[in-house]
Amino acid sequence: MSTAPATSDPVELILKEGVQLPSLPEVLLKLDRELSSEEADLKKIAKLVGMDPVLSGQILRLANSTWYNPGGKPIQDLSRALVRLGVPTTRELVHALVIPALFPKSGSAIDLSKFWRHSFSVALFAQAIGKRLRLDRQQMEVLWTAGLLHDIGVLVFDLASKENFRRILRLCEEDPFAEPDAEVVGVDLCNLEREWLGSDHAHLGSVFLQKYWKLPDPIIWCVRYHLDLGWTIDEPQAVTSILPIHVANSLCEERGQTWVPLRARKGSHLGEAWKRMGFSEQDAQDMAAEVDIALEKSDQLLAASG
Ligand SMILES: [Fe+2]
Repeated sequence: MSTAPATSDPVELILKEGVQLPSLPEVLLKLDRELSSEEADLKKIAKLVGMDPVLSGQILRLANSTWYNPGGKPIQDLSRALVRLGVPTTRELVHALVIPALFPKSGSAIDLSKFWRHSFSVALFAQAIGKRLRLDRQQMEVLWTAGLLHDIGVLVFDLASKENFRRILRLCEEDPFAEPDAEVVGVDLCNLEREWLGSDHAHLGSVFLQKYWKLPDPIIWCVRYHLDLGWTIDEPQAVTSILPIHVANSLCEERGQTWVPLRARKGSHLGEAWKRMGFSEQDAQDMAAEVDIALEKSDQLLAASG
């Protein structure tokens, strides 16, 4: 009898730690299929949403919030709520409600509310960049999903190697002034992850999404290279995928909208990324206001799901 050879791939080893990794729920897959179709049928969507009373209640709550219904008549009917929100916002809200709930809410090594706020802000801001680039619907969807899931490897570490991951984060948070001779330098989170855990969260997340959630390659690519652009910056398709994610991630981090400990936050070659996307310095500055909108909208989405 032959036994399968034990894998020596560090990512495989992490993913086989014996932890229960979440799978994508059927209702989300069905809703996603419907919501991303060219002719999304709101009746069908209402029927699918209606099967989940919690989801229905939260969608009604958001449709009646001051953000979507300032001073308007309250809506009690799910179909009308969906019409008011529109397909893109319904999709964003469904993701805000369903995806964070797939992972344990307590006992995490990181601040999960910061984590999801960061993830939604990156997704929303990447889409704002995509709009300026006049991307098509499919490209915009890649930006949304890749933005939302770009740091998912962190949650996998949190499930599979919690104690070591906690230690790494502590190291990133330690006060450099505590030791008199210590130099005040930042630490490299990904290097620490590779050294202590065998992989970094960008790599781990991309393998998880490819093997477990079976997401398409353009999303996997964004997740894999969102931190370290390297050779990818010169790839033609980077302009419509990885660069918006990289810029959105860096700007949200710069604004403090991140789960990354202060000392581990890194600068980025944003100038080069903006230039590759064909934006002037003025364009880049003009977009600063859109980061604020993304941050505010992510708060609204997460508040509705809370
Ligand atoms: Fe991030």
